[in-house]
Amino acid sequence: MRATNLLPLFLLGASALPSTPPFFLLAGDSTTATQSSDGGGWGDGFINTTLFNGARGINYGHDGATTVSYRSGGYWATVLSKVAEYKSDYRTFVTIQFGHNDQKPAANITVPEYTGNLEQFVRDVRNAGGTPILVTPLSRRDYDNSTGTPTIILNLENQRAATIVAAERTNASYIDLNKASTDYLNSIGPADAYTYNLDADDYTHINVEGSQVFGGMVAALIDQILPELKDDGYLEVNSSLLAALEKGKYYWP
Ligand SMILES: *[C@@H]1O[C@H](CO)[C@@H](O)[C@H](O)[C@H]1NC(C)=O
Ligand SMILES: *[C@@H]1O[C@H](CO)[C@@H](O)[C@H](O)[C@H]1NC(C)=O
Ligand SMILES: *[C@@H]1O[C@H](CO)[C@@H](O)[C@H](O)[C@H]1NC(C)=O
Ligand SMILES: *[C@@H]1O[C@H](CO)[C@@H](O)[C@H](O)[C@H]1NC(C)=O
Ligand SMILES: *[C@@H]1O[C@H](CO)[C@@H](O)[C@H](O)[C@H]1NC(C)=O
Repeated sequence: MRATNLLPLFLLGASALPSTPPFFLLAGDSTTATQSSDGGGWGDGFINTTLFNGARGINYGHDGATTVSYRSGGYWATVLSKVAEYKSDYRTFVTIQFGHNDQKPAANITVPEYTGNLEQFVRDVRNAGGTPILVTPLSRRDYDNSTGTPTIILNLENQRAATIVAAERTNASYIDLNKASTDYLNSIGPADAYTYNLDADDYTHINVEGSQVFGGMVAALIDQILPELKDDGYLEVNSSLLAALEKGKYYWP
């Protein structure tokens, strides 16, 4: 009698236990990094506006980084040490987004090398006890006007494809930020797209408002692969922004 009465109480207690909050460590180049005089990406907007209820994040984006320099410069070792530090209290996720600098001839990094470097990042995160999320590179805001309809020039297409190959080879999760940002930029057109420029003539890096728009886009994409984070109230995209992103309508926070 007593035992059967205890069972529902036990289940109620178990279901009321809070889940473990996520900790996002953001690895990448200047299109992830904090806004500064010559860099700035989506990372701070993501951390500032989409994490709630004890979820946390740190932006380890580094201006000018490639998949090679990020490791040789010690930035990657820092990220892995943070996974070790936070993994007992959080679900640690490491977003990995490179390509803008890897593709420059001066970097001397072939696409197969870039792919292999991303695969090694995935293995390293798993060995450290975290969960990797590969991110295809944020689109630049360069438009081709030759057809009459301004259309984003797909100058990161090889890096996008390689990131997806790296995810498939390692069975890692990925989000296709390159496609989502390209579609959005095609939809809103150049005049509105340029309002997100870090400086008037910087078509790569984004200002604070751009960071919040594209940071929200990243959160919306992560919601699609990890819906439990949204269900538990850890990851929320501003509803007006989400509606605008879904309709391809310009949004200014
Ligand atoms: C993030 O928050 C910090 C601290 O309030 C602020 O200085 C920074 O401009 C914010 N950046 C973005 C992109 O929201
Ligand atoms: C480019 O990398 C290859 C392979 O690592 C190396 O053999 C070559 O010397 C490098 N070229 C330059 C110009 O650095
Ligand atoms: C396309 O049009 C936009 C908006 O007028 C302009 O800023 C951009 O420089 C043009 N692109 C090219 C490649 O000429
Ligand atoms: C790939 O990952 C998924 C979950 O992320 C898992 O369910 C599946 O078993 C994995 N497959 C292999 C071959 O490791
Ligand atoms: C979304 O952001 C706007 C400012 O951009 C703010 O006015 C609004 O209250 C926010 N909505 C929610 C649901 O937080």
